Amino acid sequence: MTTRRAVCPGSFDPVTNGHLDIIGRAARLYDEVVVAVLINKTKSSLFTVDERVDLLVECTAAYPNVTVDSFHGLIVDFCRDHGIQVIAKGLRAVSDFDYELKMAQMNNGLADVETLFMPTSPLYSFLSSSLVKEVATFGGDVSGLVPDPVLQRLREKLGG
Ligand code: PNS
Repeated sequence: MTTRRAVCPGSFDPVTNGHLDIIGRAARLYDEVVVAVLINKTKSSLFTVDERVDLLVECTAAYPNVTVDSFHGLIVDFCRDHGIQVIAKGLRAVSDFDYELKMAQMNNGLADVETLFMPTSPLYSFLSSSLVKEVATFGGDVSGLVPDPVLQRLREKLGG
């Protein structure tokens, strides 16, 4: 039987509890899940790709069928190279859907890759890595929104 594999792609700068919710739910649906960190040299980031990968490895350790990797270029090429049939994404709101639908249609047109959309838990529907960074930068409390290792690394980078 074919191994059912999904990828959870993203910037993960840094991983939040919202991401982990989606990764954990995908891990229940597929035999193997690869979390793939986009290497985007044109976008400035707080954490390096290696730091983001390390944090994801630490934070997904409880899931035996989840691995972490990084990629550059097209996600469909990463899928082809790794025998992945499905891209798994969380949708926080209708505003996410507009862009995500276009990407899903483009990815399906480029390659035989499907996209699975999962509704984000209402606990995290407002949550994004950008907001976490903004709040943490100005000393706001982001505990409960990110896993403990991320909280610790944010404190080290930003003080507080
Ligand atoms: O966490 P993000 O930044 O919202 O994730 C966006 C991501 C990485 C999923 C998306 O930008 C992506 O898949 N980029 C890879 C390049 C690609 O395949 N572009 C064409 C998409 S139709």
